Amino acid sequence: MFEHKGVDVRLEGVSRRYTMAAEEVHALRESSWEVRKGGAVAIMGPSGCGKTTLLNLLGGVDRPTTGRILIDGQDLTGMNERALEKHRLLRVGFVFQFFNLIPSITAVENLELPMVMAGVPESECHARAKTLLGLVGLEAKGQKRPEELSGGEQQRVAVALALANDPALILADEPTGNLDSTNAAVIANLLKSLSVEHGKTVIMVSHDPKTAEVFPTVHAMRDGLFVTGAAVA
Ligand SMILES: Nc1ncnc2c1ncn2[C@@H]1O[C@H](COP(=O)(O)OP(=O)(O)O)[C@@H](O)[C@H]1O
Ligand SMILES: [Mg+2]
Repeated sequence: MFEHKGVDVRLEGVSRRYTMAAEEVHALRESSWEVRKGGAVAIMGPSGCGKTTLLNLLGGVDRPTTGRILIDGQDLTGMNERALEKHRLLRVGFVFQFFNLIPSITAVENLELPMVMAGVPESECHARAKTLLGLVGLEAKGQKRPEELSGGEQQRVAVALALANDPALILADEPTGNLDSTNAAVIANLLKSLSVEHGKTVIMVSHDPKTAEVFPTVHAMRDGLFVTGAAVA
């Protein structure tokens, strides 16, 4: 099912500033940081400390103001839009707080969409979607639409969706923020297993300590900086 192992992730002096009217917002201050291939790291920190900004930069959704972002040694910051788009589609799986499923189609159809976009032959899409549903324990619910599933089940489909194109890097932004503690634990453990069992690199943002502590490594951020886990560039 999965052919791609994780990637090494490395930030070198990365910052992201936004200019709002006349004011400068330092969403991420010059940071150097590293996650080894196949690692699972949770990031904790208060609202506004730069967690989403960090994930957006790693996912190639946004570009840094300064510094370099190296994915297996390849610098994202030098890439053109087309290359970044490829990075997002083929190398990164995103999981968000709100499950990001298309409501009008079934779970299986939701999973097939990104595969079709990536050019996977139609015959293969269906089998792969079913395998992914099995991986998240929902093999029996493939024909349900999102509204027919519980919140925890929807988020499991969303994790499967993130895996559709066998990404090497999973980025989860508060994936348990909308779940009760039982379902939060299920999702956190599922994300961790992608590292432990499949060798993916998994980075999860959470402001719930119980969720973060499921992961073997927890780093803290505050005011746009890593409080723990910062690397020396
Ligand atoms: N597109 C943007 N334009 C201006 N300011 C932004 C933008 N995105 C984020 N910020 C600001 O950057 C800081 C960090 O935001 P964010 O990364 O979303 O924090 P977190 O995810 O930790 O809550 C906040 O002060 C936020 O208001
Ligand atoms: Mg955020």
